[in-house]
Amino acid sequence: MQIFAHRGSSGTRPENTLPAFAEAVRIGVDGIELDVQLTKDQQVIVMHDETVDRTTDGKGAIIDKTLAEIKKLNAGSWFDERYSSTKVPTLKEVVDLLVARNYRGILGIELKTDKEAYPGIEEKVSALMTSQQWPFTYWYSSFNMDTLERIYALEPQTRIDFIMDKADVPPLVFEKTEIQGIHPNIEWVWANAEEIAAFDLAIRPWTVNKKEDVKRCIDCQVTGIFTDFPEMAMDIKRSYRG
Ligand code: G3P
Ligand code: MG
Repeated sequence: MQIFAHRGSSGTRPENTLPAFAEAVRIGVDGIELDVQLTKDQQVIVMHDETVDRTTDGKGAIIDKTLAEIKKLNAGSWFDERYSSTKVPTLKEVVDLLVARNYRGILGIELKTDKEAYPGIEEKVSALMTSQQWPFTYWYSSFNMDTLERIYALEPQTRIDFIMDKADVPPLVFEKTEIQGIHPNIEWVWANAEEIAAFDLAIRPWTVNKKEDVKRCIDCQVTGIFTDFPEMAMDIKRSYRG
């Protein structure tokens, strides 16, 4: 079972920041997940929410701010004062960090277009990711099917996964052969536990933060999990069932 650091090691570092990704690399995770959004001046930054309110000392929508304005914000103190000099990273800065740290796992890039459309974000991200060969593997995911279609048109060779909540898998997911996996809410896994092993698509639920739930996921034979506590999950993966 693959262990993905959800927004980096976000249980122990400020989410979606360089310290969170560096910690995930140190732990030796199978994968790192991050979320991308677009600034007013069309720069791809790494942040989960559409506003800077929760994870910085600023206020307002990302789409209304330039990268220079966002770079002035403190993206660490909300989590712990030790990270008061931490900034919001661009996708390029995260990729550079992974290269510098010799990361060899998977980078899962979630295109956050389910609340804000961010026209052109797929082209921007794809232009960066296809600009050179990387020592790690990368793929894309989104809650937004249109975004997945757009990124597939740009990079048909790159893996794409559909993110969903607890409801049934939309029939369209099975019709679209380009979709290779789903990221359901963990509650969906518990509700469908009997069918997981024989399911046609890879299944990587979010967000699995309790030790007992990591073990249950191993028992259910899901392909992977997203967790805010990847060190804990990697320990269980190594020790559970010998
Ligand atoms: O892909 C799994 C997970 O990242 C989806 O939820 O809201 O944490 O981006 P969220
Ligand atoms: Mg995400």
